[in-house]
Amino acid sequence: MKVGIVGGTGDIGEGIAMRLSSKHDVVIGSRDEEKAHESSDACYARVTELGLPCIVSGHSNQEAVDRSDIVILAIPFRHIKPTLSSLHGFEGKIVVSPINPMEKRDFFVYTPPPEGSAALLVRTMLPPGTLLCSAFNTVAANKWKALSEPLDFAVPVCGDDPAAKAVVLDLVRSIPGVSAYDAGPLAVSSMVECLTPLLLNIARFNRMRDVGIQFR
Ligand SMILES: NC(=O)c1ccc[n+]([C@@H]2O[C@H](COP(=O)([O-])OP(=O)(O)OC[C@H]3O[C@@H](n4cnc5c(N)ncnc54)[C@H](OP(=O)(O)O)[C@@H]3O)[C@@H](O)[C@H]2O)c1
Repeated sequence: MKVGIVGGTGDIGEGIAMRLSSKHDVVIGSRDEEKAHESSDACYARVTELGLPCIVSGHSNQEAVDRSDIVILAIPFRHIKPTLSSLHGFEGKIVVSPINPMEKRDFFVYTPPPEGSAALLVRTMLPPGTLLCSAFNTVAANKWKALSEPLDFAVPVCGDDPAAKAVVLDLVRSIPGVSAYDAGPLAVSSMVECLTPLLLNIARFNRMRDVGIQFR
């Protein structure tokens, strides 16, 4: 599977690239191709030093879209509109939103757009025929990046196209230690996105780090 990561040089993009590139062909995208090469080289070094295979490359965000079957939008919520309006070619591709709109006030607050969630806003910005799902919203980047530590997390996946959602569920399950759950249609994404400010509040008020979820 070819997986492109728009904004793949950031915290979550680099972490997910490290976890996926031993099983899939990962294309790290950036506004700055040189930065993408640096992230790709760092990912290759980290993964192969553990004796794992690794297929990863760094390109522009547009090439990350063009070269991939699945595109992960690893972009902060406030930058998603200009980013998506600068890219094209999403038709027929599976697009994954891990985006959580939130603000840090006295505590972390979920701040969804009028559409109801980041995923529902993203849907309005993608062309018809794009197969949009949300996933990877609730695992902290530090956990993805701690390659030598085993993972034990659940990832809810939302989406309206059953076949696309099945592909994303399989993609998530290809990462050892991560279980994937069908959380329902894209309309459920708000319930998943708002878990992250909750997890950050729990971490803060209980002096914990990188709190995640598991369903048992
Ligand atoms: N961090 C986490 O633990 C975590 C966990 C779950 C979900 N998420 C979600 O994942 C998304 C990415 O989070 P992150 O922490 O990885 O973000 P980040 O590190 O702050 O940024 C990710 C990438 O976005 C690009 N970017 C920055 N400013 C931009 C701009 N003005 N226009 C276009 N692109 C810009 C940058 O890539 P280039 O400079 O290379 O273009 C940057 O490397 C967010 O929506 C967040 O809610 C994060």
